[in-house]
Amino acid sequence: MCGIVGYIGQKDSVPIILDALQRLEYRGYDSAGIAVIDDRGVLCDSKAEGKLARLAERLRDGDPLHGPVGIGHTRWATHGRPSDMNAHPHMDCNGRLAVVHNGIIENYAALRARLLELGHIFRSETDTEVLAHLIEMHFNGDLEEALRKTLRDVRGAYAIGVISTDDPRHLLFARNGASPLVLGIGEGEMYVASDTPAILPYTRKEVIVEEGEIAVVGREGWRITDYEGQPIDRDVVQILWDARSAEKSGFKHFMLKEIFEQPNAIKETLAGRVHENGDIRIFEELDTVDEARLRSVRQISITGCGTAYYAGMVGMYLLRSLARIPVAMELASEFRYGDPVVDASTLVIAMSQSGETADTVEAVRIARQAGSTILGVCNVLGSHLTRLADGTLYTRGGPEVGVAATKTYVSQATALALFAQVLARVRGESSEERLREIALSMRLLPAAVDVVLNTSDEIRKVAQRYCEMRSALFIGRYANFPTALEGALKLKEISYIHAEGYAAGEMKHGPIALLDRSTPIIGIVTEDRVREKMLSNIMESKAREAPVIVVANRGDDEAASIADHVFWVPKIDELLAPIVNVIPLQLFAYHIADIEGKDVDQPRNLAKTVTVE
Ligand code: AGP
Repeated sequence: MCGIVGYIGQKDSVPIILDALQRLEYRGYDSAGIAVIDDRGVLCDSKAEGKLARLAERLRDGDPLHGPVGIGHTRWATHGRPSDMNAHPHMDCNGRLAVVHNGIIENYAALRARLLELGHIFRSETDTEVLAHLIEMHFNGDLEEALRKTLRDVRGAYAIGVISTDDPRHLLFARNGASPLVLGIGEGEMYVASDTPAILPYTRKEVIVEEGEIAVVGREGWRITDYEGQPIDRDVVQILWDARSAEKSGFKHFMLKEIFEQPNAIKETLAGRVHENGDIRIFEELDTVDEARLRSVRQISITGCGTAYYAGMVGMYLLRSLARIPVAMELASEFRYGDPVVDASTLVIAMSQSGETADTVEAVRIARQAGSTILGVCNVLGSHLTRLADGTLYTRGGPEVGVAATKTYVSQATALALFAQVLARVRGESSEERLREIALSMRLLPAAVDVVLNTSDEIRKVAQRYCEMRSALFIGRYANFPTALEGALKLKEISYIHAEGYAAGEMKHGPIALLDRSTPIIGIVTEDRVREKMLSNIMESKAREAPVIVVANRGDDEAASIADHVFWVPKIDELLAPIVNVIPLQLFAYHIADIEGKDVDQPRNLAKTVTVE
């Protein structure tokens, strides 16, 4: 996620902004920039791809900037590759104002076209730059009014900062959607940032800017209005966190923070892609992976490692069901040595949060040599995978700090659900009614995940009863077979308890021999075509004295009557259910590891990205 900071006061803003940006580095970024109004009243900026050290070096050696009013930004690229020119801030045509932005302007392409027709000159590939030109277009002496008119033009989730020589005594900010903004209150000075850690060294008095609000800050203080200009009262809060816990927004671990970020990660991945009428629009992002190329695809091979592979498996059920196309699952480490049968009629979907996993990158290289079309599903713009792929469908989960993947798993599965619907239409498979039904169900996902997150305390109580277990078996069928695999992986990688994920239909072919009162079974029994079969597996397990936990739809009394514990989830389309059903399993693993005092964010022996074989 991008980081925004602002300062207005008596001091030189540059060192303060650089320091504040450094405190937001944990959010992840690929370029940075700063704009100030200097003592002559001129707006100056400096921007650099890469880490903040490069920007600091540029400021020291080449672009010395000084001034008591400034904004800064660390960019996590979504539109436009990482580069000096795409780094924020972005200016209007006349260099009188600059904008920084966190989030996505969904309708930027249409706005950009309109502004180009009006003669505006664009310097970057970003969606953000349209904001600077829109404010310029609307400005007629009242900067706040120009910002309000601009916000009526744009669609999307964003946090915006504006600095302008037309009002050098104020900075303006606006927030719509989940990108946070906080105001830090000083004596005759104000600090603004995307997150609390950036302002902590300067003040512990904070005001939160909520969705749909504009904040105007100056040396005289601050005020907040709605988008119509109506004043809004807001309490000042005293920050009690230290810096480290502030980076985790008060959560004990990054992993827990990221588990709770999943509704937003799904929203961001859907943003601008699923429209009210159920249409899915992603082709503009997929470069050369266009309709014609997809029409020539005869089979799909999905490859990846670990959690990314399991997210790909969720996608396999979606692609088979909706697009009626043969799909093979290939572990990247096996694909690269296993004489893969792929050719020009194969679409290889490469799953990778980091885009840097060695096995996955090498598998893609091999598939390219065989003439296959490569679609990347990735969370990091500009990563190795995205440079090898013919097109990339980006997940927009934001940086994931915890080694155990959580929000990127649900984002990857969500992205594949989008792609499966598009491919079904290209291939003329599935009825319009079915495709519209699943598209509209996708919009329910964030709220459904939220409902499960609210049961975290109940899940912790169950976790406390299973900390002593030495082994666990996760079972699922159909689209929840990968859910079982992912639930087992979460438990083993952060609690170090042995766990296996298994296709429930395989129990009689061996694993049932494991069952006794020391080996809990965790089974996914939510409403779908195989629920009855799953209930039978659960009853067989109970008959062998295995403790049983089930993931079931709220109100399923039959499941509750046979299980020892139930993780309740809302009912949703069976093909999307894996995205919701994994949440209690993430929380179960997290709470067990936390209760056992494990290093949840950096489990032993593991790295966030495996860049070697
Ligand atoms: C999952 O919790 C692990 N961190 C690991 O399995 C991970 O998913 C795998 O290494 C793939 O990483 P990638 O998505 O960055 O390619």
